[in-house]
Amino acid sequence: MKKTFAGLTALVLAGAVASTTFAHLAHADTAVEAALKARQSHMQLYAFNIGLLGGMAKGEIDYNADAASAAATNLAALAKLDQSRYWPEGSSTLDLSPDQTAALPDIWDDDSEIGAKAMALVEATAAMESAAGNGLDSLRGAIGAVGESCGGCHKPYRQSDD
Ligand code: HEC
Repeated sequence: MKKTFAGLTALVLAGAVASTTFAHLAHADTAVEAALKARQSHMQLYAFNIGLLGGMAKGEIDYNADAASAAATNLAALAKLDQSRYWPEGSSTLDLSPDQTAALPDIWDDDSEIGAKAMALVEATAAMESAAGNGLDSLRGAIGAVGESCGGCHKPYRQSDD
């Protein structure tokens, strides 16, 4: 009886160790996955909001001051969110498959300028926030800098599709 109990204890312990190890690995993966989801969703929110402003600038969507203002306010707010946890080690194109991420390893270099690129977007979207509700010409005057700020970070730090 005692032997069986000891055997059972050993089994349970082995199981506990195995599941702890597994939980640890799963946790690391989950942390990276959560960061991928968050940063890519954040990017989608940029795209959703700039999509309306770009559509208005091109004349594809009727200009509406309130809607333009709201989208520009969203963009400016999004740009200001702390994004430091979006970029954990182990989440670049070197670590993951192309369908998981397009984030280039240069982001993690010591001389990475990703912070400056993020700041450029903060400035451009703040200008857009002031401009968007003041008429179509005003919106058009501000959209270029916002688009350039997106591209200014994508060019060095995002794997292009082509
Ligand atoms: C500070 C750098 C930076 C700025 C600024 C930036 N992006 Fe990105 N963006 C990235 C990186 C890096 C990726 C790749 C992320 C990944 O795949 O994990 C990305 C990916 C994306 C994606 C694809 C998201 C997905 O679902 O995979 C979209 C859409 C996007 N960005 C739109 C924008 C728009 C619109 C702006 C400007 C309003 C912008 N980004 C500004 C760095 C930036």
